[in-house]
Amino acid sequence: MDLGIALGILVAEGSLPQEAILQYVFVGELALDGRIKSIPGALSMAMAIQAPQSLVLPHDNAAQAAVVEKTTVYGVHTLPEVVEFIKGVQPLQPTRPHPPTSHTLLPIIEEDFSDVVGQFQAKRALEVAAAGGHNLLMIGPPGSGKTRLAQRLTGILSPMGFQECLEASQIHSVAGTLSPQSPLLTTRPFRAPHHTISEAGLVGGGSVPRPGEVSLAHHGVLFLDEALEFKRTLLDSLRQPLENGTVTLTRVQASLTFPAQIMLVVAMNPCPCGYFGDATHECLCTPHQIRRYRSRLSGPLLDRLDIHIEVPAVPVKDLTGGTRNEQSQTIRERVIEARRRQFERYREDHVLNNARLKPKQIKKYCQLDAAGKTLLDQAVSRLGLSARAYGRILRVARTIADLGHADMIQANHVAEAVQYRALDRPLSP
Ligand SMILES: Nc1ncnc2c1ncn2[C@@H]1O[C@H](COP(=O)(O)OP(=O)(O)O)[C@@H](O)[C@H]1O
Ligand SMILES: [Mg+2]
Ligand SMILES: [Zn+2]
Repeated sequence: MDLGIALGILVAEGSLPQEAILQYVFVGELALDGRIKSIPGALSMAMAIQAPQSLVLPHDNAAQAAVVEKTTVYGVHTLPEVVEFIKGVQPLQPTRPHPPTSHTLLPIIEEDFSDVVGQFQAKRALEVAAAGGHNLLMIGPPGSGKTRLAQRLTGILSPMGFQECLEASQIHSVAGTLSPQSPLLTTRPFRAPHHTISEAGLVGGGSVPRPGEVSLAHHGVLFLDEALEFKRTLLDSLRQPLENGTVTLTRVQASLTFPAQIMLVVAMNPCPCGYFGDATHECLCTPHQIRRYRSRLSGPLLDRLDIHIEVPAVPVKDLTGGTRNEQSQTIRERVIEARRRQFERYREDHVLNNARLKPKQIKKYCQLDAAGKTLLDQAVSRLGLSARAYGRILRVARTIADLGHADMIQANHVAEAVQYRALDRPLSP
């Protein structure tokens, strides 16, 4: 508010006519030498402004604000420059969004799945997760490539629409993490907080509330690597955002809600020593230790993970082989097509994707053919699955059917979805 206050003082002492400032909203921090320093949240401010008012703000934030086409934006460097502008002595050009079409391009894939040798089941599971928006858990020994796989996930997600770009960018604008060079986020965010993060850092907080990692990951991926190293209370704090897609922070002055629609990806070791089920290392843990270890992944969180897969290490000799792997771009094309099918199907019900189907909608949209139904009933009774697990398998099977361009869910779709329930199976190496 420095800039606004300074101009108010100039008006009060008669240096500026009051009418001259009424058509503008001024924001910016003033340095002692009259320079105007950048501020957080410019994008949201530009969205809030109603014509005929226009926005005068620090030059560094102008490109960000100019993304909002309905608002006229002037970027300024110094207080004298603003005064001259208002007096009509020195006109300013409004900032134009540069390059105006960037959001319609597919984001460039920086880390490609073709750099991951083998791991066909894991890659397929990530494709299914991306196609349906499912939260995913990877269990595997150290060095098996879990982190490497997760880092490549954003490259196969469907691109953000302009509205999604704006929403994601707004949060990063408030957090001050947008660079003047790239004022609009066009790639879905990937956030991988370290397990030592505070609760405020993860879900948001502070006396003037700032968005946390769950909100910075809005419309993208939140990756919890080495998930069992996170404090239990921290993992539990994700419950509300996972359920509602928002985080509400209550303060004495006000209560604030940040969006947090995320895809959650969790990686963990299979046991305390890390090598349960590994082909080359012996696991020294007892079944009791393993169960206790896994139970640290609390029920509410586990409940939100549609897909669990085991990620065994690829044998060293295979890592050096020269096999050609599928590129992320090819996978992304299939994901986009599966997303398009969901978009058309759920247009009226305003469901975002298969992962967000509610129980009633599952009944309506996840129709099984006869063989599929028989197989699912068998699997449920043999694995002793709960009703919730049943629903989860159906949602994932719906996505697998979408990837296969099928309207009805068939037995092979169910069979694959059942495979993605590693933690529902009894312990066996
Ligand atoms: N399938 C694979 N293809 C290529 N590199 C791999 C593969 N699996 C593991 N690596 C390499 O092994 C190392 C450990 O992988 P990382 O993803 O950190 O494992 P994790 O997270 O499961 O402990 C990394 O340098 C990674 O590049
Ligand atoms: Mg790792
Ligand atoms: Zn072990």
